[in-house]
Amino acid sequence: MVFPNTGFLAALTLAQATLPLGVLAAPSSSTLQACAKIAALLPSGRVHYPQNLVEYNAERSAYWSTASRALEPACIVVPQNAEHVSAAIMTLLRFPSVNFAVRSGGHDPNVEHASVQDDVLIAMTALAGVRYDAATGLAHVKPGGEWNDVIGELEKSGVAIAGGRLGLVGIAGLLLQGGLSFLSAQHGLAADSIIGWETIAANGSIINIDATQHPDLTVAMRGSGSQFGIVTEFKVKARPIGKVWGGIRIYNASQETELYAALHKFVANGASDPKAAIIHSSIVFSGIQSHVVFYFYDGPSPPTEGVLAEYLRISSTLDTTKARSYSDLLKSNGEPVAPLNARQSFRTYTLPFIPSNPAVYVLTRDKFTQIAQPFLARTTSQFTVDFQPLPSAVGAHSELAGGNAMGLRGGDPDRTILVLHGSWEFASDDDAGHAIAREVSEWLDAMVPEWLGQAGMNSTGLYMPLFMNDGAWDQNVTGSYGDYARFKALQEQMDPQQVFAQRLGGFKY
Ligand SMILES: Cc1cc2nc3c(=O)[nH]c(=O)nc-3n(C[C@H](O)[C@H](O)[C@H](O)COP(=O)(O)OP(=O)(O)OC[C@H]3O[C@@H](n4cnc5c(N)ncnc54)[C@H](O)[C@@H]3O)c2cc1C
Ligand SMILES: *[C@@H]1O[C@H](CO)[C@@H](O)[C@H](O)[C@H]1NC(C)=O
Ligand SMILES: *[C@@H]1O[C@H](CO)[C@@H](O)[C@H](O)[C@H]1NC(C)=O
Ligand SMILES: *[C@@H]1O[C@H](CO)[C@@H](O)[C@H](O)[C@H]1NC(C)=O
Ligand SMILES: *[C@@H]1O[C@H](CO)[C@@H](O)[C@H](O)[C@H]1NC(C)=O
Repeated sequence: MVFPNTGFLAALTLAQATLPLGVLAAPSSSTLQACAKIAALLPSGRVHYPQNLVEYNAERSAYWSTASRALEPACIVVPQNAEHVSAAIMTLLRFPSVNFAVRSGGHDPNVEHASVQDDVLIAMTALAGVRYDAATGLAHVKPGGEWNDVIGELEKSGVAIAGGRLGLVGIAGLLLQGGLSFLSAQHGLAADSIIGWETIAANGSIINIDATQHPDLTVAMRGSGSQFGIVTEFKVKARPIGKVWGGIRIYNASQETELYAALHKFVANGASDPKAAIIHSSIVFSGIQSHVVFYFYDGPSPPTEGVLAEYLRISSTLDTTKARSYSDLLKSNGEPVAPLNARQSFRTYTLPFIPSNPAVYVLTRDKFTQIAQPFLARTTSQFTVDFQPLPSAVGAHSELAGGNAMGLRGGDPDRTILVLHGSWEFASDDDAGHAIAREVSEWLDAMVPEWLGQAGMNSTGLYMPLFMNDGAWDQNVTGSYGDYARFKALQEQMDPQQVFAQRLGGFKY
């Protein structure tokens, strides 16, 4: 996460949200033909070219990371329904040299996952919103828009779905790549609550995926990103929600020992109170090393005993926690990162819980600091490491719901999902910036077996799949899934021409 209490944020917020002028844009003639054919099939005004400056730039700039805003699609298709997406894919099938990308919320920081240079972008801007069906208890969720809108609308009916923890994040990417929610210890990954997907298959046809007709595909849809279809609607189990408690607390570096001790206890015992959730974010700085903790409790006040209470005893320098509506909490969590204008990078690591080693968090942060220091000193930038406890309880809910591609199941160990997050200003820093988190994850690859060995734990059987939503493009996320070979075979069967596997942005099998 990126925080309000630093000069970096101010600098980047003040920076002009300008779009860089074109790297010599040169769409191929096939691409331009594909754009024209799609435009001819759709109602007028659904395909924008660079010369439609206002519409085109509004779509082009709708990314969280400025690195993705710099790309210039040959044309941007803005479908209004599944038939429009189907028409676009059918057309693209006739132009095999033309690549494409699909964007819903545009929060994936990986360039070319949801953005594209000189090829076709399908943007889900007009396909947004949610309808709650009280008779079935299902929310019908469209891919575009953000969690603020979905949760705010559902709240009118007294229900919520498991989704993003910062309200400004996009919908479809989060739901397709797993989704870690404040409600995960109660209901599993966000994707586990989905029971139906309206998708456009690789042959361009509209298919409705559900467990009755497509048992394997249903599991695959929960954590495979874009590889099994372009989703135009999710059917999601909704659950009652009332007042929740939460917000952020910012801590002085002087509280660090107590904070990391509380984190260690939370990771160990998070499953004991599934209503409690945190994101513990440590700012990687050379001088001050402060901490921000996002708190959640599914009830109007946090318990005075247990894993959350350990944290709450530590005095903070800023505190926004209070009883509030769920939608208000998500909205306020997103506000600090909304105005950022920075190139962003995520890299993930799944850390096993090592009961006898409470030092892994500070060691990881210190290593990150050491590696990032020369970069931090040289250029406008910020790095953070987010510690996201993934209690064993999450997998139990995943299994009950039928399972997910990430392979979470009952009997899972406690784990922590790390996000190694970097933000910087200049494209010229991209290689060096990405290399920092890569070096940290390589260091973890070497250290974790060592730590396990010191603790007398057997690392051979430990299952530590990577979490796609926080992954970097060069991480083999799907390869970390236990059923990788089965899903890869299913992908090849569903997509014999390798349209999604070769031509569409995102993580692959
Ligand atoms: C500030 C911030 C907070 C976050 N908080 C959380 C959190 O609480 N929990 C969590 O799990 N993750 C979180 N994330 C990560 C987030 O889930 C991912 O960035 C996710 O990809 C965002 O979804 P999106 O719709 O914006 O994705 P996009 O950037 O639009 O797309 C991401 C990927 O999904 C594919 N895709 C998008 N739409 C479709 C579609 N309709 N059909 C098929 N494929 C599609 C794209 O091609 C791309 O590969 C956070 C990210 C940020 C930046
Ligand atoms: C923060 O910590 C420093 C020492 O690390 C101390 O001097 C300062 O008073 C602390 N500030 C607050 C608000 O606790
Ligand atoms: C470690 O775990 C693996 C797989 O679970 C098992 O085959 C092996 O015997 C274990 N090794 C030790 C030393 O316990
Ligand atoms: C990803 O991992 C899988 C499983 O280990 C492996 O088979 C595959 O070759 C890897 N893919 C890449 C691109 O490295
Ligand atoms: C298109 O693909 C879907 C899903 O694989 C399949 O059910 C359908 O029969 C295919 N349609 C055609 C016309 O081949």
